[in-house]
Amino acid sequence: MDLGIRGRKAIVNGGSAGMGKGSVRALAHEGCELYVSARGEERLMAACEEIVKETGANITPIVADHSSDEGREKILSICPEPDILVGTCAPPPMTGDYRLVGDEEWESMLSIALMSPVRFMKAVVPGMAERSWGRVVNIGTGAAKYPAQIRILSGPPRAALVNYSVALSKVVAKDNVSINNILPGMYHTASIEDRYNALAEKNGTSYDEEVDKFVKEWRIPSDKFGNPDDLGSFVAMFCNEQANFLVGQGLAIDGGIGNSTF
Ligand SMILES: NC(=O)c1ccc[n+]([C@@H]2O[C@H](COP(=O)([O-])OP(=O)(O)OC[C@H]3O[C@@H](n4cnc5c(N)ncnc54)[C@H](OP(=O)(O)O)[C@@H]3O)[C@@H](O)[C@H]2O)c1
Repeated sequence: MDLGIRGRKAIVNGGSAGMGKGSVRALAHEGCELYVSARGEERLMAACEEIVKETGANITPIVADHSSDEGREKILSICPEPDILVGTCAPPPMTGDYRLVGDEEWESMLSIALMSPVRFMKAVVPGMAERSWGRVVNIGTGAAKYPAQIRILSGPPRAALVNYSVALSKVVAKDNVSINNILPGMYHTASIEDRYNALAEKNGTSYDEEVDKFVKEWRIPSDKFGNPDDLGSFVAMFCNEQANFLVGQGLAIDGGIGNSTF
């Protein structure tokens, strides 16, 4: 299916790994012109090269921390008028006892997971509205909808982001700017691989065994973790030409872990 977004300019913040990379891949297959940011140069260059080879898309890698003013200015100076904005970051650390979560960690996560996408939207959405075309997708977390102590640094900033995005989506819906959120469950991404490989080493098990333990403990109905490229396809779908009537939605793609009717 052709999503009708060939030639659209897309910024993907946090696109060198995981679901950000999956989104770059899906948008590249649709013929978008991509501007992809990440902090680590080597992984970013390798990811962009791999996707250019695979799709022939025009991709500009941008080494920048999208949560800093300097990084944001750099990204927007290279792509000042995007049609599409996709935002993500590395998952915030898992948390134990809520009393041990310090102010510094809160401030850091609020800056990366909430204020960065808010500042980007504030910078690019007015131009999208003027040009009568825009799509914004924030890749947040299912924990925004289903709170849990272990995701206390992840859910609350994204619950606020979803709230802000929905408020903003209503302001610009008439201008053909569609702003939505995707709320993932557990996926085989770079940071999850790091985490579960470390657990496997500590416990004398394997990555697959650790993942399976989590799947069973949290009773994930799909009986597995998700594939970040599959999620990227949903990001591209939310950016499609026909999304002009899609306003402020939050789609949980979580293998059923959320167990909600609506
Ligand atoms: N994976 C899961 O199971 C899972 C579950 C629920 C929710 N989520 C959410 O899904 C989103 C993506 O997670 P993921 O697992 O796909 O992440 P990932 O594999 O760790 O990839 C994160 C990407 O973002 C980049 N990044 C991180 N911070 C950045 C910053 N400040 N500036 C620029 N780039 C930055 C990383 O590159 P650099 O490090 O080089 O900057 C990398 O390209 C996150 O919001 C996460 O909370 C993930």
